[in-house]
Amino acid sequence: MSDTSFTPRVFSGIQPSGGLTLGNYLGAIKRFVSMQDEAYETVYCMVDLHAITAKLLDPKELHYNTRELAAGFIASGISPEKSILINQSQVPEHAQLAWIFNCIARMGWMSRMTQFKDKAGKNAEKVSLGLFAYPALMAADILIYHATHVPVGDDQKQHLELTRDIASKFNHDYGVDFFPITEPVIEGAATRVMSLRDGSKKMSKSDPSDASRINMTDDVDTIAKKIRKAKTDPDALPSEAAGLEGRVEARNLINIYAALSEQSVDQVLAEVGGQQFGTFKPLLAELAVEKLAPISSEMARLMAQPDEIDRILACGAAQAREITAPILKKTYDIIGMVS
Ligand code: TYM
Repeated sequence: MSDTSFTPRVFSGIQPSGGLTLGNYLGAIKRFVSMQDEAYETVYCMVDLHAITAKLLDPKELHYNTRELAAGFIASGISPEKSILINQSQVPEHAQLAWIFNCIARMGWMSRMTQFKDKAGKNAEKVSLGLFAYPALMAADILIYHATHVPVGDDQKQHLELTRDIASKFNHDYGVDFFPITEPVIEGAATRVMSLRDGSKKMSKSDPSDASRINMTDDVDTIAKKIRKAKTDPDALPSEAAGLEGRVEARNLINIYAALSEQSVDQVLAEVGGQQFGTFKPLLAELAVEKLAPISSEMARLMAQPDEIDRILACGAAQAREITAPILKKTYDIIGMVS
């Protein structure tokens, strides 16, 4: 089955679960911004329905987080003129299609999701049903737009494979060519940004140590301090990528530098190879501040205008529903729901 008959359309989302990290920025948002200027329609989403799966948030906090994330998207360069910008709950077709997908996805498929296993840990009996069903909602987020391309960080790869499986099973079971087989877009030097305290762990907003991550709202001094204190090894930097083998922390800092400076790892190493971390870290801090400080000050400016953010999201939801309502209607028709 080919998906050439589908309009090239990008969908991606981020959870408003509090704070935006350098991992989100380099792994996802930077690519969201560049795809706006390529030959795609682009839809970007604050996935608020996903944000309550791990734990219920204080309603005021969820409200704040959603607006702050919207400010983060816009401050990073996502333009409401070029992209449809929404929060998930204002477009009810996401949740409606998710129910159908709950009936398509198999328990065995869902049980293999490593993120569920990581998040549930030894507590699988106590976590919410929503946490288990989460990847079916994610598939619905994507397929309710017939999205053909989904830019994400490396940690979302398995969820995108599941999305393809759900689309294929639906198409096969109903004998249609209705949902596209979506392409994951996992590209760039920093598809998996690691913790600054432990190079074997992903940088994450849920890590209890604030020193493990750079938050998009960190001030200049905090960014510099976190980079200065980042865990490293005693050796000098190599001149070629092969020399990063087995040096997870060094690789992480080089990947971050490469992604921020829009260079390849080899180009960066040609420039900084032979340097000790004492020399390299200030360069990285300076680059990070140069790239991130304008975003955080723009976020603060936007956060002072919450009505404007709400207006953009309402407008985005209206535009989104022009796409999602007919796709849901057609899905119901295929299934045989009376309307
Ligand atoms: P979330 O909110 O955990 O992360 C949002 C995006 O940021 C990327 N990311 C990273 N990339 C590189 N290094 C890191 N350390 C890092 N941490 C996070 C993630 O890969 C992701 O692209 N399930 C999704 C949200 C979602 C979604 C969707 C995404 C819901 N529906 C539909 C795409 C399409 C999630 O929890 O991402």
